[in-house]
Amino acid sequence: MENFQKLKLKKKPQPRTLEEMKPVLKNPEITEKIGSDKIIYDVFREVKFKNPLRYDITFIYPVMLGDELPKTFGHCHKNLEIMEVVSGEVLWFLQKHDKNPKVIKEAYLIHAKKGEKVIFPSDFGTISINPTTKETVLSNWMNSETQSNYEFNKQLAGGCYYFLDGGKLEKNQNYEKVPELIRLKPKELPEFGITFKKQLINYPIKNLKFLIDTKKYENILTIEKCYTKI
Ligand SMILES: [Fe+2]
Repeated sequence: MENFQKLKLKKKPQPRTLEEMKPVLKNPEITEKIGSDKIIYDVFREVKFKNPLRYDITFIYPVMLGDELPKTFGHCHKNLEIMEVVSGEVLWFLQKHDKNPKVIKEAYLIHAKKGEKVIFPSDFGTISINPTTKETVLSNWMNSETQSNYEFNKQLAGGCYYFLDGGKLEKNQNYEKVPELIRLKPKELPEFGITFKKQLINYPIKNLKFLIDTKKYENILTIEKCYTKI
């Protein structure tokens, strides 16, 4: 088992402070209480590189954002992406909007634990949430040419749901239409060589081809294909 803690000594992360997170928070006023330079999560980009794919590690710290659980900023992109829980637990929130970014067509929540992997289908907005009182460590492979869009979440103060302490959730009133939240669980895809046993960092490029050619795989690697409804 690869120990990513040593990264903190060796490499410089891209930290996300509370001040930077302010536009996507349910409770932006907590910045004054907790301190604007408090780090919510650290991203170590390009820990590994297999042209054109990049492998990153994210540490989400157990810093409550008022009654909201600690989370990443949230973004969306066309290219597919694969993520893994290295340690701890995560809630992955996925939403897909209509032409109007305030109208959400689909919203999903995935609770995943150590070793589990998920593919984020094309064009979904994604947020990673730490539902525990310990650090959550995530890893991902993605195409290094991916253009991520952070604007929708920024303009609408986060995703269409807020995830709160004690398993509660709240609709974000800045959205015009918010569908019922559907809960999913991650699924192994042995035909793509995707299993929960093998650590993502050790995946050969032949198992990651879908990250290189999104057009070829975007209609195959859908929510229905990649997840089980619960
Ligand atoms: Fe992403």
